[in-house]
Amino acid sequence: MESQESHKLWGGRFSSETNPKLEKLNSSLHLDRRMYAEDIEGSKAYAVALEEIHLISNSEKEDICQGLDRIRIEWDKNEFITKNGEEDIHTTNERRLKELIGEPATKLHVGRSRNDQVVTDMKLWLKTNLATLKNAIRLLIDTIVTRSLKEIDVIMPGYTHLQRAQPIRWAHYLLSHAWSLKNDYDRLLNNFQLLDVMPLGSGALAGNPFNIDRLKLAENLHFSQITPNSMQAVSDRDFIADFLFWASMVGIHLSRLAEDFIIFSSKEFEFVTIDESFSTGSSLMPQKRNPDSLELIRGIGGGLFGQCCSFMMVLKSLPSTYNKDLQSDKEAMFTTFDKLTSILEVTTGTVKTLKVNSEKCRSALSYEMLATDVAYYLVRKGVPFRTAHHIAGRVVAEAEEKNVNICDLTLEELRSISSYFEVDVGRVWNYENSIEQYQATGGTAKSSVLTQINILKSWLKSQDGEEKACQPN
Ligand code: ARG
Repeated sequence: MESQESHKLWGGRFSSETNPKLEKLNSSLHLDRRMYAEDIEGSKAYAVALEEIHLISNSEKEDICQGLDRIRIEWDKNEFITKNGEEDIHTTNERRLKELIGEPATKLHVGRSRNDQVVTDMKLWLKTNLATLKNAIRLLIDTIVTRSLKEIDVIMPGYTHLQRAQPIRWAHYLLSHAWSLKNDYDRLLNNFQLLDVMPLGSGALAGNPFNIDRLKLAENLHFSQITPNSMQAVSDRDFIADFLFWASMVGIHLSRLAEDFIIFSSKEFEFVTIDESFSTGSSLMPQKRNPDSLELIRGIGGGLFGQCCSFMMVLKSLPSTYNKDLQSDKEAMFTTFDKLTSILEVTTGTVKTLKVNSEKCRSALSYEMLATDVAYYLVRKGVPFRTAHHIAGRVVAEAEEKNVNICDLTLEELRSISSYFEVDVGRVWNYENSIEQYQATGGTAKSSVLTQINILKSWLKSQDGEEKACQPN
């Protein structure tokens, strides 16, 4: 049986075995095995580059590439057997390659280090997998847009400070979340730019001593640029920090949506009913139906920033180039990726299946929410806004004093406050009329909400086309 030490790439200068506790702590294989395909892709491209500068022969390159293809199949089929004490995906794949093809495997790592290898793998992994998150965000936006169109006539109170403010369309409210998510989507595209710079060929820190053709290597790995400084390249994890911050922002947006629906689904509001498939019950109180889906989204959404924050602290004050502290980048990246994916999916499911109770939404409107409209009525009669605001305030106070709704004050009572009130003031006491004033772009009037829906619909369509164009034939 082989000794454990023989699996180590750096065993040569050591005479005693690694302490098992350290070995366990040091190993990242349980996490970075997810990058097996990227590690193999990077190694194959590197082998091609080595052959071009005659550091390996054509047949050695062939052996290496075929061996790597076999390893890939083993991983794909879940048949790859890792060994105790193996450090990471790079070590494991190289060990297996040697088992499969023998000597040529030992030439593959020339001029390369796990330091440039790991960053390359991570960039490749993110480049591929961010598509999952892109799709998940698009699906959620699509769900919101579909609902908004179907339920465009539902009206409800809009809130500031969680106090009833002005009547709005439910669709306008829903779309407010879609627009935040659209911003997230656009920001994600910016993140792709940093990912598109290839670090491979930076070695441990000093660069590549064999004048490897890095541009060609980048082209083979579908990177559009190469890193300009090897020391920066091996220590750079800004792209991870960017990803974590981006994910935190999405998490925050989802948590706000979740909080709204938790409030809206409470008995006190009952604007929405969360579908049973996205709720749970209580083991003690039989009547309970809890919005667990939304609470998980809210909690996990907030927790994402914890990952971001903690990784930023790992980066802070690190001395130049590679330090093992950086290995925690995998946990941050994968955990964030997985959690964000699942809360996006659950948000989409919850939003898609919830029921909006249009009657409850409407009956939560109250006439004092039209006080601003009283002021606007007066402005349209030529009263300066500040004066109009003051008069409307007096109307509210008068109604309060008389213990009636503002719409129940008689024309005489109104005229005793301001002679600008005329019989057409009756038009003010209508929620739809109020909503329909807001026709300027971005407002809650039907035309403006439809414009938003159309913009988002054609954007979704254009992204769909883009996605298909990017797919390999
Ligand atoms: N598993 C390591 C990581 O993820 C790979 C780089 C190891 N480099 C080293 N010099 N020990 O960071």
